Parts: sequence; structure tokens; C-alpha cells
Amino acid sequence: MYGTFVFVHVVSAVLSIGPLFLLMPTIKRLRNADPLTEKAYLTVINVIIRLVMHAGHLLVISGALLLLIGPWPWFTSWVIATLAILLLSGVFLSTGFTRVLRRYHLPDSNKAEILTILTRTSWIYIGLMLIMLWLMVQKPMLW
Ligand code: HEM
Repeated sequence: MYGTFVFVHVVSAVLSIGPLFLLMPTIKRLRNADPLTEKAYLTVINVIIRLVMHAGHLLVISGALLLLIGPWPWFTSWVIATLAILLLSGVFLSTGFTRVLRRYHLPDSNKAEILTILTRTSWIYIGLMLIMLWLMVQKPMLW
């Protein structure tokens, strides 16, 4: 049972990081795209963000279940460090992606600037996810 939850947890980790690497090349192609192509790429970006969001929720839920039924107490230092980063990245993904993307459709929006923000947010998010991945795999005793 515990092994199954670890597996689900790791698969959801893969799904919440992997698709982000598709975001950057898609954003790049969005620059100077004609309106029809632009619409197609925006759909792809929305699908990627939604996939990452659902996988992220599964990641948190399966992580919480692992703590509940497994041997690691919630106050283990690498768990607390992960939770702290998770709160940061959660705020990031909801405001940094969704709100910025919504602005893209406004008539007076600066599209180039929005795409730059989206690329930067993607890299920061990937960085945070990789730090959490390291904490999870290495399980360092930080204090
Ligand atoms: C709410 C946040 C999280 C909690 C409570 C949590 C909890 C846990 C626990 C208790 C384990 C230990 C399983 C074991 O080895 O017995 C684990 C493993 C793992 N977690 Fe998380 N996790 C969380 C978030 C994350 C995130 C954000 C990632 C990826 C970025 C991640 C990736 C992994 C991986 C790859 C493993 C397997 C490591 C290994 O067995 O060596 N987890 N998690």
C-alpha cells in the first residue's frame, strides 16, 4: 500500500515538472505568431498549466497520505523545507501563470512583456520543483 502511494507520488512529481519544459518552446513560438496560430499555442499553454496544476494537487495529496501512513513524521526537516517551498510555488503558479495569461487577452496588453514574465515564472517554478525533488530524494537532516 505504502509502495503504491510512493509510486503515485513520484508519477505526479514527473507530471508536475515535465510539462513545464514544453512551456518555454511554446511561449517562444507565440512571439510574432499570426492570430490563428496564437490561439492554438495559447490553448496548448493552458492545457500544460492545467495538467501541471492537477498533478501538483495529486502530489500534495499523495505526499500528505505518505506522511499519514508512513514512517516519516511531519516535522522531519526535509518535509518542513518542502512544505515551505511548496507554499511559495503554489502562490507562484496560480498568480504567475493564470493571472498573467488572463491579461494577455486585454486589448491594451503588452504581449511581449507578458511572454517574458511567463518564461521567467516557468524557470523559477522549475527551479523550486527541482529543489523540492532534491529534498525528497536526498532527505537531508537540515537541523
Ligand atoms: C506536500 C508536500 C509533500 C509531502 C508531504 C511529501 C512527502 C513525501 C514522503 C513522506 C516521502 C517518503 C517516501 C519514502 O521514501 O518512504 C516522499 C517521497 C518522494 N517525494 Fe514527496 N512529498 C511532498 C512533495 C513532493 C514534491 C513537491 C516532489 C517533487 C518535486 C516530491 C517528490 C518525491 C519523490 C521523487 C519521492 C521519492 C523519494 C525516494 O523514495 O527516494 N514530493 N514524499
